[in-house]
Amino acid sequence: MSDDQHPKAREATALRDDARRWVYPADQEFELVTGTGAHLRMRPIRPADARRLVDFHAKLSSRSVYRRYFSFHPVLSDEEVAHLTQVDYVDRFGFVVLDDDRFVGVGRYDRIPETDEAEVAFVVLDDFQQQGIGLSLLEHLAIVAARQGIVTFTAETQADNRGMMGVFEVFSDHVSARYEDEFILVSFPVVGSSRSGDQSRGEQPRGAPGSGETPPVGGALC
Ligand SMILES: CC(C)(COP(=O)(O)OP(=O)(O)OC[C@H]1O[C@@H](n2cnc3c(N)ncnc32)[C@H](O)[C@@H]1OP(=O)(O)O)[C@@H](O)C(=O)NCCC(=O)NCCS
Repeated sequence: MSDDQHPKAREATALRDDARRWVYPADQEFELVTGTGAHLRMRPIRPADARRLVDFHAKLSSRSVYRRYFSFHPVLSDEEVAHLTQVDYVDRFGFVVLDDDRFVGVGRYDRIPETDEAEVAFVVLDDFQQQGIGLSLLEHLAIVAARQGIVTFTAETQADNRGMMGVFEVFSDHVSARYEDEFILVSFPVVGSSRSGDQSRGEQPRGAPGSGETPPVGGALC
């Protein structure tokens, strides 16, 4: 929202933004085909996904859990499950990838309050890693985030996490990285990235209302 807006226009924008909050965005459901030919589904996370998320977490290797949470973390607390599944679809957004009814990947962004930056985080079931799911999650999060005025994605990852860095570097030619002890603090633009919104990885909208529209960052694809 620009600062030079008339107060009434600013109020109208705020009301419109509030009205969009917590409304499940049914137009953000997609089918995707992995690098190995598996047909999966991607959709926004919702509160009723608590059990699926707990089951997904239990099936992750301890290495993947450590990569995602930076600690030995075999069980998600009730608070974490609520935080991860109850998102407002504006400042906090999560996509899940499903194989039938089970989660095989989760990606999310959380806006850093009062900024146009959001932190992203991902985890993909071990048997489904390196098949394009992490990158697809990032691409779709970027499209949604751009619509919500988010300009920059940030992430904190372990310095030797080649999988995560690989995803960021394929997505964007403008990744900046700062090393802090054994961590890397990464940031890159949401719009203008090389892969944002690319449907060449076999993704198709499911045909829900509005799903065929051109992504707002489409012009930035290259
Ligand atoms: C990191 C993670 C989310 C990546 O998801 P993924 O589905 O395996 O990644 P993708 O298959 O989409 O990979 C996208 C690109 O990244 C690169 N990449 C992926 N894994 C890589 C690896 N282990 N080493 C080097 N590059 C890798 C590839 O170049 C790939 O590009 P390509 O498809 O053109 O070959 C996944 O490995 C994971 O869940 N790891 C454990 C949790 C974690 O580390 N989370 C990050 C916390 S911030």
